[in-house]
Amino acid sequence: MSEPKKLAQYPSLQGKNVFITGGGTGIGAAIVTAFAEQGARVAFVDVAEAESRQLAESLSARTQAQIWWRTCDVRDIAALQLAATEAAAALGDFSVLVNNVARDDRHTLESVTPEYWDERMAVNQRPAFFAIQAVVPGMKRLGGGSVINLGSTGWQTKGSGYPCYAVAKSSVNGLTRGLADTLGADRIRINTVSPGWVMTERQIKMWLNAEGEADIQRNQCLPDKLQPSDVARMVLFLASDDGAMCTAQEFKVDAGWN
Ligand SMILES: NC(=O)c1ccc[n+]([C@@H]2O[C@H](COP(=O)([O-])OP(=O)(O)OC[C@H]3O[C@@H](n4cnc5c(N)ncnc54)[C@H](O)[C@@H]3O)[C@@H](O)[C@H]2O)c1
Repeated sequence: MSEPKKLAQYPSLQGKNVFITGGGTGIGAAIVTAFAEQGARVAFVDVAEAESRQLAESLSARTQAQIWWRTCDVRDIAALQLAATEAAAALGDFSVLVNNVARDDRHTLESVTPEYWDERMAVNQRPAFFAIQAVVPGMKRLGGGSVINLGSTGWQTKGSGYPCYAVAKSSVNGLTRGLADTLGADRIRINTVSPGWVMTERQIKMWLNAEGEADIQRNQCLPDKLQPSDVARMVLFLASDDGAMCTAQEFKVDAGWN
């Protein structure tokens, strides 16, 4: 057993406004929670209404943080951009954007139709670009900001069973590097955080079996299972002033997966 972790508080995150996609459950919920615990004002969107409401209510009660949330399907870009605009009207311009939403549904090479391909990209690829487009004017007004895009190590370790998801996730590094110079001129930083295999409720329910347990033991350098909060810690660092000169990079939180 390891010692309880002693984790950082970042003064620069207090009172900062943060927008997070897919914040209702999983890693997104851990990121929402982590920012609320830092004293930030958090806005998030998700399709999971009951889970989102419960998260917002419990965090407001426990942390006194101001939480804004809305049920929003990010496949609808107009609805996503409207949510970002209305959240900024309620809280103020966003210093931080976390593009977290995704769905790693399994599919085969043979089964994918053009419609299915487009739908996968509409969830896993397109929302990040258009969320950036919506929040950047506010970041410019603030004199800077931090965009954090959730990537993945799955495609990098040749994970199979989700080729469309792999294509979308591999493009996150392109989004980060392709915008870093443009945004950097306005002191807006942009980075990718790529998780390894993180034990969200969905991952445990859908995929963690005896074979998966053995994979973790064989492939990770560290013995402990990755938790959503481990990813959130890296996101906090990159959002904070402590990460002030980091941009255009990919940061992996994967316990050293081979
Ligand atoms: N869990 C892992 O092991 C893992 C590994 C590598 C990368 N990632 C990345 O981390 C991020 C978070 O992953 P996660 O495992 O927490 O995912 P998850 O599937 O558990 O949660 C994603 C959230 O997005 C929401 N969502 C799904 N479709 C939506 C839509 N159309 N509109 C709005 N909200 C929608 C879901 O309700 C959920 O709250 C993703 O970008 C994922 O690719 C996760």
